[in-house]
Amino acid sequence: MAITNRTALITGATSGIGKTLACSLGNMGFTVIATARNMEKGEGLIKFFEENYPQHLGKIEILYCDMSSFESVQNAVKVFGEKHTHLDLLINNAGTFNRRLNLSKNNIEETLQVNLLSPLLLTHLLLDTIGSSPDGRVIFTTSLLHFGRINFNDIEGRKRYFSFNAYRQTKLGLILATRHLACLSKGSSTGYYSYHPGIVSTNLGSKSMKVFKFGLSLLGMSPQKGAETAVFLATAQRETLKSGEYYFRNKIKRSMPHSTNMKMANKLMEVSHQYLKDYIREPEGILWES
Ligand SMILES: NC(=O)c1ccc[n+]([C@@H]2O[C@H](COP(=O)([O-])OP(=O)(O)OC[C@H]3O[C@@H](n4cnc5c(N)ncnc54)[C@H](OP(=O)(O)O)[C@@H]3O)[C@@H](O)[C@H]2O)c1
Repeated sequence: MAITNRTALITGATSGIGKTLACSLGNMGFTVIATARNMEKGEGLIKFFEENYPQHLGKIEILYCDMSSFESVQNAVKVFGEKHTHLDLLINNAGTFNRRLNLSKNNIEETLQVNLLSPLLLTHLLLDTIGSSPDGRVIFTTSLLHFGRINFNDIEGRKRYFSFNAYRQTKLGLILATRHLACLSKGSSTGYYSYHPGIVSTNLGSKSMKVFKFGLSLLGMSPQKGAETAVFLATAQRETLKSGEYYFRNKIKRSMPHSTNMKMANKLMEVSHQYLKDYIREPEGILWES
């Protein structure tokens, strides 16, 4: 399928699902802005793309962005805006699964910031640009691991940290944010989608518990297979997609009970506002409307 004049920004494109996704979309004709927190890995992505996709119709550019720093997210949007006036697709894909409680550059539990708060900030800062596309799409890479609730009394797990809990809470948060954004943007030209890639053999387990690491390497499918639903959401005819929904294997999938709880979504937006208030630009836009 050849795609022309579509620009996509993909976070976490230096490894695993994001790397495959960037290459697949670049191959089809997208101009892909791939974020990297490690510029050497970014250059490695370009080399990999040139060597493995010689017939590519589009291109990949690298943009520095460390999702564990709100200042870095702000700066990435600034640098992006100096070169590009147009964005059709944002894929919030970067993610981490930490064994221990690590703190981000902003002194926040790292999983919460990298997987949830920074994607919300990035989405907020790019929404106007995406909104000017006649077919804007925002995709969140979430996970089947999104059961339970968000523990608003200890959202960073500072009192009691459990890596699995820290991770699944951020993925639940992304599904709630997707539904919240879709509700408040009815009738607009932007669609919001979350998806589970499946169990994929990537580097995600490398910093996590041994059992998780082992599970991913033993049971995981290839990153190519794992990227399929995101490629589908990025390229399917817009009328065939439903904004706000959670997808798996190219279809809408019923998500866990709390992930449709819009009271919890509103509370999450309030809490995220507290973390992000110094970085949000005016007007605040739909993420923080109720
Ligand atoms: N693998 C699975 O079975 C599975 C299942 C469900 C959902 N997911 C989700 O899929 C997404 C991609 O993960 P993956 O499995 O492809 O794992 P991966 O191979 O570890 O890729 C993660 C990507 O995120 C980037 N990243 C991590 N921390 C970052 C930070 N602080 N700033 C900027 N970038 C950062 C990594 O950069 P570096 O290359 O520099 O490390 C890498 O590009 C994640 O959101 C994950 O939660 C994965």
